[in-house]
Amino acid sequence: MQRIGVIGAGTMGHGIAQVSAMAGYTVVLTDADPAAVDRGLGKVRANLDKGVEKGKVAAALRDGALAALSAGDLAAVAACDLIIEAVPEKLDLKQRIFAEVERSAPAHAIFATNTSSLSVAAIAGGLADPGRVIGTHFFNPVHIMALLEVIVADTTRHDVLAAVQRYGERIGKDVIVVKDAPGFATSRLGVCLGMEAIRMVEQGVASPQDIDKAMELGYRHPVGPLKLTDMVGLDVRMHIGEYLAGALGNPAFEPPQLMRDMVARGELGKKSGKGFYTW
Ligand SMILES: NC(=O)c1ccc[n+]([C@@H]2O[C@H](COP(=O)([O-])OP(=O)(O)OC[C@H]3O[C@@H](n4cnc5c(N)ncnc54)[C@H](O)[C@@H]3O)[C@@H](O)[C@H]2O)c1
Repeated sequence: MQRIGVIGAGTMGHGIAQVSAMAGYTVVLTDADPAAVDRGLGKVRANLDKGVEKGKVAAALRDGALAALSAGDLAAVAACDLIIEAVPEKLDLKQRIFAEVERSAPAHAIFATNTSSLSVAAIAGGLADPGRVIGTHFFNPVHIMALLEVIVADTTRHDVLAAVQRYGERIGKDVIVVKDAPGFATSRLGVCLGMEAIRMVEQGVASPQDIDKAMELGYRHPVGPLKLTDMVGLDVRMHIGEYLAGALGNPAFEPPQLMRDMVARGELGKKSGKGFYTW
């Protein structure tokens, strides 16, 4: 595996491109919006410059990574060995993109999805070779977070898993392998905790600050569940909660009324300036 193609240059895509280029792969980045590619490449450069300034990244590594990274079209991405999509969380969009890529991709190419909640089997469903599809769930910011959650559908081939595990190790991530079950390991546990914390605010059990402190100091979580919900976005977590409540048949994932009201008021967390905290 030498060439990595990344589709979607947003929050996650530019980070995936960065860590891949830093590990010595040749990387092609594409997006439906050309301005997004420019922004993404700009963010990679800024991240690497900051790393050099802080003495965490050698200047030669920065220069090598930037030289290995280029913008391209979907055809250039489809010619890669590992193709990772990081487009918005919409099943039909992800299915459509992989179907288009499959028309010209080499037979050995692996297709990886960065979905945070959708079924990997459903994303692979319409392809001629669903065995080449696997989940690579990265965390934000990609160049900082150590975890790579690899999601294996019943159809995923063993050699595809082995190759992606090697890729994960080469980019310096700690890899966990999880079955293609709703919410995988991370979202299922994280969202459950978040919903219960919101219910506790709703019931006046304690303030958001004290609930977060309970988990941060009492359980050594680096960030409390309400602050984390603010960081991810209340709207994003609400949709994941709705999906998991249905998919798992578990009302614990049902978004509390307080969350629905906050989302309706535009209190989405960090990105809107207000959530459980003022940002
Ligand atoms: N943001 C996070 O913290 C996070 C964490 C883990 C996983 N994810 C998942 O990663 C994926 C991407 O999320 P994001 O936060 O990077 O989104 P984003 O909105 O920041 O970026 C998505 C990019 O995809 C581009 N795009 C849209 N349609 C396209 C198409 N047809 N072809 C090519 N590019 C297209 C958009 O222009 C945009 O630049 C989603 O599946 C999301 O659930 C996000």
